[in-house]
This record gives sequence, C-alpha cells and structure tokens, in this order.
Amino acid sequence: MKKVSLPTEAQRRTFRRQLLAWYDTHGRDLPWRTTDDPYHILVSEVMLQQTQVDRVLPKYAEWLEKYPSLSALADAPIEDVAHTWRPLGYNIRPRRLHAIARESVARFGGALPSDEETLLSFKGIGAYTAGAIRSFAFRERAAILDTNVARVLFRVFIAKGDPKAHAMKKRLWATSEVLLPRKRVFDFNQALMDFGATLCTARKPACLVCPMKRQCRSYPWSDR
Ligand code: ADE
Repeated sequence: MKKVSLPTEAQRRTFRRQLLAWYDTHGRDLPWRTTDDPYHILVSEVMLQQTQVDRVLPKYAEWLEKYPSLSALADAPIEDVAHTWRPLGYNIRPRRLHAIARESVARFGGALPSDEETLLSFKGIGAYTAGAIRSFAFRERAAILDTNVARVLFRVFIAKGDPKAHAMKKRLWATSEVLLPRKRVFDFNQALMDFGATLCTARKPACLVCPMKRQCRSYPWSDR
C-alpha cells in the first residue's frame, strides 16, 4: 500500500503555533467551551452537527434547563423531547440523543464513558462526536474531523485529489491526529472548528488575512 505523506514535525509545530495564536485573539466565546460536563458537550455537538452556532445558542440553554442530565433526558417522553427540538428541524437527532441518554442510564448509571470503543458502541455517536467528547469533556488527546476541519486540513496540507474520497478521509484523520499538540488539546480542537467556520470558510475563505497563508498548499503565493 502507498504510504501517505503526513505533515513533517516542523510543519506540525508551525501549524499548532499559528492556529493557537489565532484562536487566542479570534476564538469565539461559546457556552460549551466553559464546561467539561460530557452530557453538555454531547448536546452541543449533536446540535451543531447540522445547525449554525447562532441558532444553537438559545436552544442549547433551553435544552439544558429542561433536561439537566442524561437521566432527566432519559426520563422525558420522546414526544416531549422531539417537540423541544422541533425549531432545529424535523429530524432524527432528538431521537438519537434520547436513545443515547437511555442507554447511558441502562449501561453506565447515567454517565458517558470516556474510551473511544465504548463511545462508538452507542448508536448515534460516530468518530467525530467520540473525538469531540473525549477531547472537550475528558481533555484527552483525541483527534476530531468534521466537514470544517477536513476542509482546513485538506487545503493547508494536501490541496490535490478528491477531498471526499475514502482514502482521503483516512489521510485527513491521520493528519488531524499527528497535528494534536501535547498541551492545549481542547483549545487546539476548538480552534480548528472556529478557523474553519469563520476564516477558512467553504465559499469565501479570508486568505489575505490568514496566518497560515505562507504554509498553505492552496494559497497561490505560499512558500510550498
Ligand atoms: N461545530 C461543531 N462543534 C463545534 C464547537 N465545539 N464549537 C463551534 N462550532 C462547532
């Protein structure tokens, strides 16, 4: 099998430094960044899967007020839960959250586990959400890859080939893993999210003001 090329040590160091410096001034102040409650992180991440931050903010607060814990959520009737969710769209996400709550009560006394394999055994928790829970709630050195993060890493380090191909996804996960710093993993992953959502956006990336531009493979005048 062809060995994929990953960022060199020097590239990793530069990327971490620049991303964290950018986050220190431009990072957003969001309520799920001041908690380490795994349930709160789970709720925020499931809401953010398909909904913009500004629409999630009020619903996140209302949800936690109504269902303050996994066991409170598990005890609530599904019709009530689906109704509370309704303004975020008619979809499967409230049912998934409810099922995760019930399963966590049945299997773990109303707590969420921190290890990857057990998290992935929950229906409705995929690789991205497992990484988010591990790094944001348990402060573990776990990688994340969602659409925004994949776009950032593809542009900066790869820039060639099909970004949606299965092999590319594997390469992007491996890239996200090797980039993780030893310290500030939480900030680093949150920074990747904000960088993709606010600067390295899908349609109008702000390349001219981007701190990564000299290193970025997609920037026409980069050094690479
Ligand atoms: N989108 C998904 N997860 C997010 C997070 N933790 N912060 C901001 N946007 C996100």
